[in-house]
Amino acid sequence: MKQFQNSTVYQIYPKSFCDTNGDGIGDLRGITEKLDYLHDLGVDYLWITPFFRSPQRDNGYDISNYREIEPMYGSMQDLDVLIARADSLGIGLMFDMVFNHTSTEHEWFQKALQGDKRYMNYYIFRDGDPETPPTNWISKFGGSAWEYVPHLKKWYLHLFDKTQADLNWENPEVREELKEILRFWKNKGVKGFRFDVINLISKPEQFEDDHIGDGRRFYTDGRNVHAYLQELHRDAGLGDVLTVGEMSSTTLENCIRYTDPAQQELDMSFSFHHLKVDYRDGDKWKLQPVDYRKLKDLLETWQLGMQENHGWNALFWCNHDQPRTVSRFGDEGTYWKKSAKMLGTLMYLMRGTPYIYQGEEIGMKNAGFTSIDQYRDVESLNYYQILTKNGLSSEEALHILSQRSRDNGRTPMQWEPGTNAGFSEHMPWIGISENAQGVAVNTQLNDSDSIFSYFQKLIALRKKSDCIANGKIEFIASEREDVFCYRRKLKMQEIIVICNLTAAPVKADFQTQLSGMTRILGNDPNSTLLNNNVLSPYEAVVYQTATTK
Ligand code: GLC
Ligand code: CA
Repeated sequence: MKQFQNSTVYQIYPKSFCDTNGDGIGDLRGITEKLDYLHDLGVDYLWITPFFRSPQRDNGYDISNYREIEPMYGSMQDLDVLIARADSLGIGLMFDMVFNHTSTEHEWFQKALQGDKRYMNYYIFRDGDPETPPTNWISKFGGSAWEYVPHLKKWYLHLFDKTQADLNWENPEVREELKEILRFWKNKGVKGFRFDVINLISKPEQFEDDHIGDGRRFYTDGRNVHAYLQELHRDAGLGDVLTVGEMSSTTLENCIRYTDPAQQELDMSFSFHHLKVDYRDGDKWKLQPVDYRKLKDLLETWQLGMQENHGWNALFWCNHDQPRTVSRFGDEGTYWKKSAKMLGTLMYLMRGTPYIYQGEEIGMKNAGFTSIDQYRDVESLNYYQILTKNGLSSEEALHILSQRSRDNGRTPMQWEPGTNAGFSEHMPWIGISENAQGVAVNTQLNDSDSIFSYFQKLIALRKKSDCIANGKIEFIASEREDVFCYRRKLKMQEIIVICNLTAAPVKADFQTQLSGMTRILGNDPNSTLLNNNVLSPYEAVVYQTATTK
């Protein structure tokens, strides 16, 4: 039986994790080399973002062969060693299945381009005149979502980059191909899958212009998506592996259906509403300080909504598409360590399965890039153009990128202090964070007060506490904006988590709730919560009933 209620997943972005052959690019051997570190941290699964054959326009999310490894990451033999070594440490690997689209270099698309009818039907081609795309939909990376192919006199749909052509899931042959890929990796001993933007796979029957938005309402959580996931679950045997779906602009109702075990679709889902609380007017490229009131409301709504309806959340603050957690929601300066620990406590003891992104366990910070040449990400480069074309100065555009670029989460893992951060012997493919100083694995490993040590304790706590894994959640002090508190409950066991979201001390009277309970974790050894009713800046503390095992 697969277990995920008490498990923790760690996300690896292989390009930036560890380079073993000195070419400046992380590789599969680098992951194998660091397995002991990950085992020491205590994680159960590794989600590794795509390392399959790919022209790397979108760093591997543009796959040209799903069964081969991109040579710069290593060989199939390297992968076999990684799977076997991970297995011997009790760590399961989760691979990233990018099934909404393929690279335009994929053999299927290449055949489609040659006019092969069978393969044209693998994608979404539409007739049209060269001047007007079939609809006015906007790609997630900017510009039209359609690209014209002159010799075919047709347009093809790409919700992302123009080199990422959307697959036609209506075609049963496409679905069979994808199931085969899942079986192939399952046979190799893979223990789970993360499905990339999986709620975008079902497109509408008729394509029409969107006069109020960018087109997403026509294909997000589309009409056949639940049926397709059920079919995949049944035919590819997804019941024996851990599955998580990345859901773009989704709804609670849909995520309940995706993850209710009775539906036989997926085990859990990523949703992103709580990561848009610093977008002005819902626009990622317009800055606004974090709205903590909104953050609390969203987390509570999703926690309670999923709980009441048998759904299951993936719990996360960060991934390879997001700015760094501590820079965004905490404090990079004075309260760096304390706020990083608080954010971990807040998120990872809720009901769901934690996903910790590489470097989060040591409090890595945003990239701090100040020149456009430092950026690598296709989305960032596109939006720099768009923002400056729309009238922003280069300085203003760069300021926005410094807060919003996906490259903030993609700078190399900081293993040691110094040049190249112990990531590589060579200049890395993307610069080390300008804010790397004082943030490294090797200085935190044997420091019992480090962020790393604290994350070890958090992960261990989830593993041994039934109440955290399986208990109910209810929120305390919901009306307050400055604290985030909740109770987990299982039979007679009870756990209370209290976090100060601010950089100031706050008054908090928890005497009644905490009476008879024991403190089991916290980031302030001199806490005055119990004797003075005050939480110190960014304080986090966890209490449990004496009966909790
Ligand atoms: C997901 C991935 C992102 C990628 C996109 C297109 O959002 O996390 O990195 O660019 O899908 O595949
Ligand atoms: Ca390498």
